[in-house]
Formats: sequence, C-alpha cells, structure tokens
Amino acid sequence: MWTANFKPFFANAYLIKFVTEDWERKQMRALRQAVFCEEQAIFAGDDLDHIDNIATPIVAIACVAGLPDRVVGTVRIHQEQPGVWWGSRLAVDQDYRKQGSLGAALIKLAVSSAHAQGCTRFLAQVQSRNQLLFRRLHWKTLQEIAVHGRPHYLMQADLAWYPPYADGAIGFVTTSRIAA
Ligand SMILES: CC(C)(COP(=O)(O)OP(=O)(O)OC[C@H]1O[C@@H](n2cnc3c(N)ncnc32)[C@H](O)[C@@H]1OP(=O)(O)O)[C@@H](O)C(=O)NCCC(=O)NCCS
Repeated sequence: MWTANFKPFFANAYLIKFVTEDWERKQMRALRQAVFCEEQAIFAGDDLDHIDNIATPIVAIACVAGLPDRVVGTVRIHQEQPGVWWGSRLAVDQDYRKQGSLGAALIKLAVSSAHAQGCTRFLAQVQSRNQLLFRRLHWKTLQEIAVHGRPHYLMQADLAWYPPYADGAIGFVTTSRIAA
C-alpha cells in the first residue's frame, strides 16, 4: 500500500510551559491518567490528589507548523514549606519518550521556575527505574523509600545547574536534546 512508505509523524518542536489554558489542563489530566492509572496501574480511576489544589502544572506541548497542538508531557511543582519545593507526576506520552529529551526539559522548567520563586531545596520521590535519568540531570540520592508500595528514591536537585527562570507561563521552546 502507498501509505506503507510514510513514517509516523513526530513533532520536532515542543513548548514547555505552565498550564494556562483549559485545553492544556484537560489534556494534561488525560495524559496523567493514561500513564499513572492505565500504564503503571498505580491509581485506579484518576490520580488527582490534594496537591493538585496547590500545585503549578507544567506541560510539554508538541507544536505543528509552529503552533501548539497537543500535550505530550507533564509535571507539577508545589511549595511544601518556605523554600522547600517538590516535583511530582512527571510523565511523557509513550510515543514521545526518548525523542526530544522532554523529561529533561520538564524537569528543567520545574526546578528553574521554583528556583525563581525562592526555592532553596527541590525534592522528588523518584521511581527507582528513573534514578539514573535524574542523576544524569544533576540530582543526588538522599534515601531509598517506598511510595505506593513501590521502590523509589528521595532525590534532590543541584540548584546550581538550574538557574532561576521566572517566565514559566511563557516557558521555552525546545527543538533538540536539552542538557540541564
Ligand atoms: C521518565 C520519563 C518521564 C522520561 O521521559 P523522556 O522524555 O523519555 O526522558 P528524556 O528523553 O528527557 O531522557 C533524558 C535522557 O535520559 C535517558 N533516560 C530516559 N529515561 C531513563 C531512565 N529511566 N533511566 C535512565 N536513563 C533514562 C534518555 O535516554 C535520555 O538520554 P540521552 O539524552 O543520552 O539520550 C518517561 O519515561 C515516562 O513518562 N515514564 C513513565 C512515567 C514515569 O516513570 N514517571 C516518572 C516518575 S519518577
């Protein structure tokens, strides 16, 4: 068939930004549900919790012809106590993993935007399988822990590698692999 000659389409530009639009929030929730409820089966139904009431959600949006098209990645950040921030619910659409360093780009905006808001300590409970990814992005392991009955590491970002970035609502565009 003639279509057999066509490769699947992948965006090559991504906008990494705070959620500011309803469609971004809706797609962000659908992505989290697909990853944390269906793929990983950590939660049944949906994965929303009390942190969503105070967290700042961040998305990676695939752009087509320079225009925002579809949410393909997400993470959220919140301040637990003065200076102490957490990141959680990091997820990239299965088709977009290891494509455009989207996980790294989301972590970059998460930590840099918290840094711009006075963060002195940025922490995350990282699934054990992702420890290497975070270590490569200048995070150190503090402790081995269990979360939802699964092995995790408590990890902390080295803020020296994440200079303050105050324009999270505007965000940044990435077209290639990112080094934090
Ligand atoms: C973890 C996750 C967000 C990573 O997203 P991603 O967009 O594939 O990550 P990136 O492409 O930015 O990865 C950056 C680098 O780390 C590598 N990497 C990605 N996942 C890795 C892992 N689990 N362990 C080691 N290295 C990893 C990539 O190959 C890439 O390396 P390179 O630049 O040398 O090629 C994605 O795999 C995902 O959504 N997983 C399911 C949900 C999940 O586990 N969430 C995290 C909870 S802590």
